[in-house]
Amino acid sequence: MAFFRTVSSNETMPSIAGAGITLRAPHSGDFAEWAALRETSRGFLVPWEPTWPPDDLTRGAFRRRLKRYAEDQRGDLAYAFLIFRSDDNAMVGGLTLANIRRGVAQAGSIGYWIGAPFARKGYMTAAVRALIPYSFTTLRLHRLEAACIPDNVASVRLLERTGFRREGYARGYLCINGIWQDHLLYARLKDDTD
Ligand SMILES: CC(C)(COP(=O)(O)OP(=O)(O)OC[C@H]1O[C@@H](n2cnc3c(N)ncnc32)[C@H](O)[C@@H]1OP(=O)(O)O)[C@@H](O)C(=O)NCCC(=O)NCCS
Repeated sequence: MAFFRTVSSNETMPSIAGAGITLRAPHSGDFAEWAALRETSRGFLVPWEPTWPPDDLTRGAFRRRLKRYAEDQRGDLAYAFLIFRSDDNAMVGGLTLANIRRGVAQAGSIGYWIGAPFARKGYMTAAVRALIPYSFTTLRLHRLEAACIPDNVASVRLLERTGFRREGYARGYLCINGIWQDHLLYARLKDDTD
């Protein structure tokens, strides 16, 4: 059931402007920059992400990734964005709103990564702050969720400074870097403030 959906299935996702960054849906022309940024950032990202398939950075895998994003967007299940620095249009990372549940939940979960050369410059704070009003107004969600490993200080700080509240602790919640890991659970509701 997808009542309350607001983005039609054939519509191109609009760009979302934030402070010093812009979010937009990935397209095939992004492959080279995306693969180079992910490769450069491999050691920085791998401890915090699901295991990368061996072919993850190939053009074929990127094509399949885009196909999955398009299907998910058509189904109002998930919306994937890349993040670009406004100054020079450099790709700095990615932010995905996934696992969207409509009906009585009107909820979705965010996931994010920043390229290692761009870490700790406030880009993900700006990206999450830009996605929040989009999620609650354009997409009419009621609740945004996020989960992170307790040791992930950067992710904990990010969520707390963007108005997410800690709601719980889930044992063996997600398989990250090949291990089922406990996670802190966070959420921000439509009417919450920072
Ligand atoms: C989590 C992540 C997306 C944050 O992106 P970012 O652009 O560096 O974040 P920002 O610069 O907006 O900083 C957000 C907050 O985290 C803090 N922070 C960022 N990196 C940090 C680090 N290595 N150690 C401690 N604090 C850190 C910042 O200081 C800031 O908090 P503050 O305002 O209190 O100073 C990035 O570190 C990352 O991609 N990590 C690896 C992958 C990952 O963890 N994904 C999420 C899994 S849940």
